[in-house]
Amino acid sequence: MNTNASPVWGGRFKKPLAQKAVYFNESISFDKKLAQFDILGSQVHAEMLAKQGIISEFESHSIINGLKKISAKILKNEIEFSPEAEDIHMNIELCLLKEIGEIAKKLHTGRSRNDQVALDLRLYLKHEIEKIKITLNSLINSLEDLSIIHKDTILPGYTHLQKAQPITLSSYFKAYQSMFLRDASRLSDCYERMNFSPLGAGALAGTTLPIDREYTAKKLGFTGIIENTIDAVSDRDFIIEFMSSASIIITHLSRFSEDMIIWATEEFNFIKLDDAYATGSSLMPNKKNPDIPELIRGKTGRIYGNLMGILTVMKALPLGYNKDLQEDKEGLFDTVETIKNCLDIFNDFLNTVHFQKDAMLKSTENSYVWSTHLLEQLVNKGIAFRQAHEIIGKLVIYSYENNKYLHQLNKEECEKISPHIYTSLQIINKKG
Ligand code: ARG
Repeated sequence: MNTNASPVWGGRFKKPLAQKAVYFNESISFDKKLAQFDILGSQVHAEMLAKQGIISEFESHSIINGLKKISAKILKNEIEFSPEAEDIHMNIELCLLKEIGEIAKKLHTGRSRNDQVALDLRLYLKHEIEKIKITLNSLINSLEDLSIIHKDTILPGYTHLQKAQPITLSSYFKAYQSMFLRDASRLSDCYERMNFSPLGAGALAGTTLPIDREYTAKKLGFTGIIENTIDAVSDRDFIIEFMSSASIIITHLSRFSEDMIIWATEEFNFIKLDDAYATGSSLMPNKKNPDIPELIRGKTGRIYGNLMGILTVMKALPLGYNKDLQEDKEGLFDTVETIKNCLDIFNDFLNTVHFQKDAMLKSTENSYVWSTHLLEQLVNKGIAFRQAHEIIGKLVIYSYENNKYLHQLNKEECEKISPHIYTSLQIINKKG
């Protein structure tokens, strides 16, 4: 072996990788995030190798204990990873070599970095999906509480951002709660579908050694193994699926944020922002800005961008592992952190918002939002829907042109348009 070439594949090479190529090729600067999952996978792999008689019990214990020590050192920040060792997998193997000596060279028996990285990513993402679901559930619970508190709070509902019909604030919260419940179930589906182990698939064709894939899969908490070894190392559809689910969550959050931004305007005045979750202006002393929901709205861009990124990396990729797949990580890590932070802060933000019930109610009075209710009262009296629509339409124009709202019309004015309106209007006014 040429001693200057890689300690991992030096046998085949006469000189080391160029310095520029080292830095272009490395992933340790970001895949170090996978360290603990990589170690866990290796420990279970070593245990299985001994169980199958491929390495001795002594060797297996030595490897597992060595990895335990490395794990503790990483947690204490005592290990400096090297870009020369390219990625987290080879860095940890080299650490192990330093820690326990020659026995470390037996760890990689019957596996490849291709199944190793696919395993680490699955372990990492399963762990993160659990955490995201907890944060999402807190938001769902907050919406439940708010919908109970505001079951009698009336506000105008909007279509086309024009006042449409009165709704309760409770039903507004329930709408978002329903979306987030579906998001949670999408994450569960994604989790279930990805919960199969690629370990033992090797580079792509498995191994001739008598490994036990089911054993490692079970030990690592998977439902089973990914049967086809080429599929196991080649696909990243679980990342695409997770990022799609994250994109739908941030879509919902961005709409909710947008509503809060609009409601916080002086024009709407449906909410007041708490000082702890609003910012001022360095220039204009009057300003109080909704930075938190604005930032969530903005972060939608990077979550969609990361989804587009992984889709494009995967598109037309020839079957088998390709180094392009190393580009799956930074976007994934970014999406995981971003969605977690957005859900968490939006929940805190929402719980501090002051809902202006009086302004909301006033906004339903100073409008024509009860028109459809009035129309339906006429339908109840046996008037055909289209005819009733026309009658109320005329009433709205009349009121509008005379600078009045419906509840301000008197008997005489109503009867000029139709004899059926006034009593119906009284019923509506009482309800309002
Ligand atoms: N760092 C690589 C990645 O993230 C690990 C797998 C490398 N496999 C290989 N055959 N070069 O994808």
